[in-house]
Amino acid sequence: MDVSISDISTLSLPEGAEITVKGWVRTRRDSKSGVSFINLSDGSCFNSLQIVIPKEIFNYQSEILKITTGCSIVVNGCIVKSKGREQNFELRAEEVNVVGWVKDPDTYPMSSKRHSIEYLREHAHLRPRTNIIGSVTRVRNCIAQAIHRYFSEQGFMWVSTPIITASDCEGAGEMFRVSTLDLNNIPHDSNGNVDFKEDFFGKETFLTVSGQLNTETYACALSKVYTFGPTFRAENSNTSRHLAEFWMVEPEVAFSDLEQSAQLAESLLKYICKAVLLERKDDMNFFVQHVDSSAISRLENLIDMDFITVDYTQAVDILVDSGRKFDFPVYWGVDLSSEHERYLTEEHFNAPVIVINYPKEIKAFYMKVNDDGKTVAAMDVLAPGIGEIIGGSQREHRIDVLDERIIEMGMNPDDYGWYRELRTYGTVPHAGFGLGLERMVAYVTGVSNVRDVIPFPRTPRNASF
Ligand code: 4AD
Ligand code: MG
Repeated sequence: MDVSISDISTLSLPEGAEITVKGWVRTRRDSKSGVSFINLSDGSCFNSLQIVIPKEIFNYQSEILKITTGCSIVVNGCIVKSKGREQNFELRAEEVNVVGWVKDPDTYPMSSKRHSIEYLREHAHLRPRTNIIGSVTRVRNCIAQAIHRYFSEQGFMWVSTPIITASDCEGAGEMFRVSTLDLNNIPHDSNGNVDFKEDFFGKETFLTVSGQLNTETYACALSKVYTFGPTFRAENSNTSRHLAEFWMVEPEVAFSDLEQSAQLAESLLKYICKAVLLERKDDMNFFVQHVDSSAISRLENLIDMDFITVDYTQAVDILVDSGRKFDFPVYWGVDLSSEHERYLTEEHFNAPVIVINYPKEIKAFYMKVNDDGKTVAAMDVLAPGIGEIIGGSQREHRIDVLDERIIEMGMNPDDYGWYRELRTYGTVPHAGFGLGLERMVAYVTGVSNVRDVIPFPRTPRNASF
């Protein structure tokens, strides 16, 4: 019977069961009595499996004694109770086939010694074989599956929104251009501007920064929807929480306001944390031991705690009253930077914080203008250790106010024709948010840089692999 290493404990296989396992060798150790021990990993769970190889098997001298870290092997054998303390079973090998040797073991980049996280980043094709990236990958998968399950249980429909788009949702001008135009022969119109009519799409197009505008159209028909996919930002930020390509989950709900959106965000985050604690105990224990000793307790606290909601104005007062000298000065109207967010969550409240009602000048055009005329119904959810993890808002559903905002921000209403029509054909208050998957994985695992929680990070100076 072919099994994965995780199957061995979940299926509670009896002693003596005949199985076949396949994987990559972590270590090999030979005892004087002529038995070799191999630690085999197949990535299905945190644990590796100890394989006991007696010298009697036919290729013991010719192959087994030459096996090194990284070799791929297939082993047939039977389960026996282990005398070792770490696992309660091991595999007594009857047949070991070496499928792939490691050419030049001395230079194998993933030797069994401990490597720095920066070194691993330079070997993105091999780093999934390490404990840390294996654990991150399983937790990331657990989070993504939990997100889909949560929304499905809550009656949401998953909609796919386009990657190639003409609209700049966030209005921040941080878009990657998509073009088929020949760089050496770019057509220009009579005014000297690039003539995109010659392009494949006949219009200037970009990689999406957010699926939100498209999601709104489906919310205004199917009521509760979400999109979950890759998004792109051409921002030149070399920080531990910014990527040029990241994954975002964006729910959008019709007949909903900012408060309901904040409740949805809190409930989603709690659901995700519960799922990880329940399903990935093995990996979370690893993070506690090697990455962040509070990885588990932080999630337990988040599940137990009521999130704190503060007005932006109140948050600014707290920061000013703190007397702290921040690198970026705080005053009403400034966008909060990560040091401000960290002060609020880690020092002042020591809890996740939802900041609401930001000045309209620092937020996107689509957010609902509050009655004070100065602020918009926006929210940022800030988590201790990482800062902003969610950004969202109630959307402006009044056509006249929306048009005013579009013009005020120097944009052209004609470019948003379809978006504006949602406001003239059966408009309805609606709200939603975006949760950055990498920030969530970093928060959950305690891994401090988002580059280490996505398989192949795309950052300003790095797009290899
Ligand atoms: O706050 P943001 O820009 O919000 C939006 O894009 C809205 N349109 C979402 C919506 O309302 N549907 O981004 C949302 C989240 C952030 O809170 C952060 O977690 C993540 O996306 N994020 C990034 N993650 C990694 N690298 C970047 N460069 C990110 N920019 C945003
Ligand atoms: Mg934001």
